[in-house]
Amino acid sequence: MFLQASRQLEISAVIILLTLSSQSMAEMPESLSQQHLNALVQEDPQQAFIEAFEAGDELTEAAFTSERGVGAKVSETGNRFTRFPRADLKGSGEWATHIPARETGPVAQACIACHSAPYANGSGPNPLNGVVDPLHTGDPSMYLHRNTPHLFALGAVQLIAEEMTAELLQIQDDLEKTVCSSSQTASVPLSAKGTSFGMLTAMPMKTDGACTADFDRSGIIGVDEDLVVKMFGWKGSHATIRAFTRHAAHNELGMQADEIVGELDGDHDGVTGELSVGDLTALTVYMAALERPISKIELAENGLLELPDEEKKLIEDGRKSFAKVGCASCHIPELTVQSPVFSEPSSQIGFFEEIFPSGQKAAEQGLNQVTAIRFDLTDGSPNNHVAITADKETNLGAFPGNENGEAVIAWYSDFKRHDMGPLLADAADVHGFGASVWPTRSLAGVGSTGPWLHDGNATTLDEAIRAHGGEAEESRLSYEALAEQERAAVVAFLENLIIIDLDPEEEEE
Ligand code: HEC
Ligand code: HEC
Repeated sequence: MFLQASRQLEISAVIILLTLSSQSMAEMPESLSQQHLNALVQEDPQQAFIEAFEAGDELTEAAFTSERGVGAKVSETGNRFTRFPRADLKGSGEWATHIPARETGPVAQACIACHSAPYANGSGPNPLNGVVDPLHTGDPSMYLHRNTPHLFALGAVQLIAEEMTAELLQIQDDLEKTVCSSSQTASVPLSAKGTSFGMLTAMPMKTDGACTADFDRSGIIGVDEDLVVKMFGWKGSHATIRAFTRHAAHNELGMQADEIVGELDGDHDGVTGELSVGDLTALTVYMAALERPISKIELAENGLLELPDEEKKLIEDGRKSFAKVGCASCHIPELTVQSPVFSEPSSQIGFFEEIFPSGQKAAEQGLNQVTAIRFDLTDGSPNNHVAITADKETNLGAFPGNENGEAVIAWYSDFKRHDMGPLLADAADVHGFGASVWPTRSLAGVGSTGPWLHDGNATTLDEAIRAHGGEAEESRLSYEALAEQERAAVVAFLENLIIIDLDPEEEEE
């Protein structure tokens, strides 16, 4: 009964494969200068955005060569890549001595070597899982396993996190004013975009006549004590696309960004200047502005997919059961972004750096908010513009806006960390907030990103759901108690959340 829908998707998959094979021959991109982008922003901001986006496209596709700095000195004997972490290699310049400390790899020559399914910038199958040893244990039983997630529309993720962080920091500022004006200890609930993050308590503290708050942060739940919402990486290890990207470039490719090492050859491959500040800006803007995941229901509404009535009904029934059994309490179907303009660099505290990890001042390296590259989530996506009729085009790559000028983001997450129980625990508690604690993973595109869960251990969506424990235990039990047909509907609803390239030919140009 799903034949028609899936056949159409298969056809696009064929076209997409063709696109991919031509992409793999992409030439080595020139390094992009941030100063060039800055000058362009002042002349023609839209052109600067498009140029950064296109450069980011090339950088994610490029198979970097050793001359350009890909790989690292893994061992004295000349290994450039390694599939497994090698904390045992402690000799001069070898794996365990790289700066910054290496967690894994280098493994690949190109970002899209892993981020590949269902097409470039997507997720990855199990053979491409990251095998990570951040604590340098050298003990395979302590390695962490990470499935490759997709990279689409990440600007929406960062902007939601920015607005939530701003809300939490405002509550903190207001509490300081309250305790200082009343000279009494006080507690307030912390919440952002409707999600609760526990309580914040403060006592007034007078030094030299000035009052500041002495905060008790022990009641904060589901976010770091700095109240910065961090969503990148399965563990939520990074707040910004930029910070995660240079971490990925270093660890996965052995491409060390100037902003993490400065002039230093931190991976001893004999090459410096591997990725410029402008390159990182381009990669960030590109992933931020990639097309959003979509749903089969939306495609059908736009006449782009023939969806049989029975499947439509199953999906709608599944959407209701998803809410009924409590999935939607963590996987919140929609959040809105009040000011939907993504900006690189950001102006939100916690999302820009005055000092790069290299120790250099960002502004001195050309990165500053005055010449930030900007685009609007509700119309900025260059991909997936689709002609609906001869004279009507819709931009299905962008997020829909509402009547208040907000962007509506169907990301299926509360942007909060939860204890998910023993089945989903890492071998080691690297961040100190719990081996089984994870931010709610988005379900946007989840129908196209199997295998599932942080380690790729779930071969079906049903298995992924049944692995939920801890704070999700009750919800999982309710799911398991559903009639078989209702569980099938929940899975059909999830399978309806897809990633699709609606204009593959255009990209080929
Ligand atoms: C060897 C495979 C591999 C390569 C190559 C690779 N990645 Fe990844 N990528 C991963 C894995 C695995 C994760 C999940 C890591 C984690 O959770 O800590 C990830 C996560 C990410 C994320 C975070 C996404 C999210 O939603 O949390 C970004 C951004 C990213 N990669 C960008 C890049 C870029 C840009 C490149 C090239 C410079 C790249 N990756 C190269 C495997 C890879
Ligand atoms: C307490 C919060 C919470 C509840 C309730 C919850 N989830 Fe999750 N869900 C998560 C977290 C956190 C992850 C990531 C876990 C991991 O990868 O280890 C996740 C992962 C998933 C995944 C895998 C996503 C991927 O990309 O691999 C699916 C599918 C999923 N949940 C569906 C559901 C369904 C269906 C329900 C209701 C029966 C549900 N979840 C209830 C928090 C929750």
